[in-house]
Amino acid sequence: MTLVSLTVNGKSVSAGIQPRTHLADFVRETQNLTGTHLGCEHGVCGACTMLVDGVPTRSCITYAVACQQAEVTTIEGLDNDEIATELRAAFSQEHALQCGYCTPGMLVSARDVVLRLQAPSEHDIRVAMSGNLCRCTGYVGIIRAIQRVVEARRSRGIAAIPNGNRTRLGPSGSGHALPAMSGSAPRVAVAPKVAAKSASAASAARMDPDWKPQTTFTQSFVVAHPVDVVWNFFGDVASVAACLPGASLAGEPVDGHVEGQMKVKVGPISAEFQGIADITRDEATRTGTIIGSGKDKRSNSATRGLVGYAVKEGDTPDQTRVDVNIGFTLTGALAQFSRSGLVQDIAGRLIAMFVKNLEARLAGKSSGDMPSAEAGLDAGSLVFSVIKGRFQNLLKRLFGR
Ligand code: FES
Ligand code: FES
Repeated sequence: MTLVSLTVNGKSVSAGIQPRTHLADFVRETQNLTGTHLGCEHGVCGACTMLVDGVPTRSCITYAVACQQAEVTTIEGLDNDEIATELRAAFSQEHALQCGYCTPGMLVSARDVVLRLQAPSEHDIRVAMSGNLCRCTGYVGIIRAIQRVVEARRSRGIAAIPNGNRTRLGPSGSGHALPAMSGSAPRVAVAPKVAAKSASAASAARMDPDWKPQTTFTQSFVVAHPVDVVWNFFGDVASVAACLPGASLAGEPVDGHVEGQMKVKVGPISAEFQGIADITRDEATRTGTIIGSGKDKRSNSATRGLVGYAVKEGDTPDQTRVDVNIGFTLTGALAQFSRSGLVQDIAGRLIAMFVKNLEARLAGKSSGDMPSAEAGLDAGSLVFSVIKGRFQNLLKRLFGR
């Protein structure tokens, strides 16, 4: 057990906890502050958002021991907060909640928007709130409620506070944890920052040889067609792209380079990644690589990725096994989706859609139920289906059905 001392809602508290205890469990279980909700526990949904030293923080991925001596404010601590009070009234007036599960996290993030942004447009608010997902999808009311409070406060002459009085930036809890906890607290791994380069698509494709992806994983699938047929199909980049929901090419590949785009929709964010990729294929080993990068201007998200694949004979002559290694780095508003566990689940479902379309094309059929490249990939519904699937599995484990 490790003794952690911090301030929660203005009160000094201490508790002996396992070093792995995250901040949300700390406040819920040792302080009985159950207003903080847990949705995904992957840092994706924002339901667990609370303030650590005034900064909105995902408490499900913040170790409590990293918050030694920090000032923590949960939704209960905002009972008498002026902005939160106005937001609660506006949420009610604008019907900005249905089941209310996301609401504590929404209010904490919304308060930060009202505090910091002087005259945010609807788009600014959507981007600022993109780290909070509402499974009841009541985004319109939420955005309106925030707009209502911003407008009311500005019309009363209350200006925004740039940076919200934050005195330092950095990972939550940093600056407090280790000196006092020397030898007893786990070191919190901080993901290396990746410089978001605003390079042109062409220069973005020239990969830094020292670049390492933040997230890597492997997926395999089997196609009911002979290995030669599948290998040849993989040589036709346009056909492969046509099997990937939301993807399209800008033209034919030239000297192993191809330009294209990928449309993705995640909750309130629609992103359109424009990018370029270098493609290599080795006939002898039936392996290939796709190395690329892309940028979405609207959400200011950028990605770099590396896909390696190996096409092998399956268990029977009319089967082919494809092993895919994926590595990528995502920065910007959509980076919340790069938690590897969830990404692997989503990638698994995306690959299942890809395989279905691949099978259809190899069989000479059209990919009838595939969303068009124009419609884009609805990653939000994939996230929802992953969370729903996990919830159903949990129910099965608990109740055996
Ligand atoms: Fe923390 Fe979803 S529960 S982000
Ligand atoms: Fe139900 Fe947002 S109101 S999750």
